[in-house]
Amino acid sequence: MVLRATVLAVQVWLLAALRPSDPNVCSYWESFTAAVKESYTKPHVVPPTQPCPGSPLPCLQQRIAYRTEYRQAIRTEYRRRYQCCLGYYESRDACVPRCTQECIHGRCVAPDLCQCEPGWRGSDCSSECDQQSWGPGCGHRCDCHHGAPCDPLTGVCSCPPGFADPLCHQPCPPGTYGQGCRLPCPCHHQAPCNTSTGACLCPPGLAGPLCEVPCPEGTPCDTPCPCQNGGICHPHSTGACVCPHGWMGEICSVPCPPGRFGPGCQGECRCHNGGHCDPRGGHCQCAPGFTGEQCRERCPVGRYGQDCQESCDCANGGHCFHVDGGCLCQPGFQGSRCQERRCLPGLYGLHCQNRCLCHPQHSQR
Ligand SMILES: *[C@@H]1O[C@H](CO)[C@@H](O)[C@H](O)[C@H]1NC(C)=O
Repeated sequence: MVLRATVLAVQVWLLAALRPSDPNVCSYWESFTAAVKESYTKPHVVPPTQPCPGSPLPCLQQRIAYRTEYRQAIRTEYRRRYQCCLGYYESRDACVPRCTQECIHGRCVAPDLCQCEPGWRGSDCSSECDQQSWGPGCGHRCDCHHGAPCDPLTGVCSCPPGFADPLCHQPCPPGTYGQGCRLPCPCHHQAPCNTSTGACLCPPGLAGPLCEVPCPEGTPCDTPCPCQNGGICHPHSTGACVCPHGWMGEICSVPCPPGRFGPGCQGECRCHNGGHCDPRGGHCQCAPGFTGEQCRERCPVGRYGQDCQESCDCANGGHCFHVDGGCLCQPGFQGSRCQERRCLPGLYGLHCQNRCLCHPQHSQR
């Protein structure tokens, strides 16, 4: 039977004032039910007494004829809705970043990130302490070595690259370098590296930015250009490196911090919903369940996972969670795919409180 449906009535919903072009507006798909008028072909019995078409004689047998009828039905439809992305809230029809702590002498420039007015410091821009003091009335001196500053509210040291937390007293452990000693030395042949820059300190007989070049015997051997990761030495030999996309620092040994990309990490990505910025090209790699250039869109209905590649598999009208494909079952069903009836045969509803009206033999499904 071929069904044709026309949407007759759609629930009225408020038109969102948020503009989809707002870079901090995200979208999702919402289901709603609509009353539709369906046409269907209904069989009916033509009694044998009527004359047969194209014949003066009555037909000997009854026959089945079909006519088009209409009936009311409920259909589930989907519409795209807009809301502020995670970490943002609606203010005068725009989505602005939310800072959990109020920025006292500054402004909220990104989710939970205050930019302080000159003279003010701290995560909420509430402290007037200089770089070397902290606490109420700036009464405490920072405990940090090597002149490192400390947080004006907590006293926690911000160690320079090459020195280990918590007090910046110790250099990075061998084989590590950089901010918080979080980067592994890149040098070949287990050569050590400068704990602050990551520059390789080659033993005699080896050269190159990563000590990867064996020196010919008996010839002086040095490394004219220390730039790592494909960085190019400045042509006028100022010692500076021109870094490739995704790298920064004196010798291009520091990967872009999260959210940054491009030459010298000057570019800024705006990836939403936990998406990661590719430090080279600046594309967003979306978290599972999200898609779009800035990961602002939830997977379409019926899809889930990384890049919305997976197809949902929920039985009996269950809704599928866009992140991991988990099924949210309709009342009366359970199981990982909503494939099991929750109620005993003959009963239905959220608490199995309703009795099926159908004949017992047909109550199984
Ligand atoms: C590491 O490199 C920096 C910057 O080039 C330099 O100032 C410092 O002396 C170096 N440290 C060591 C241990 O070679």
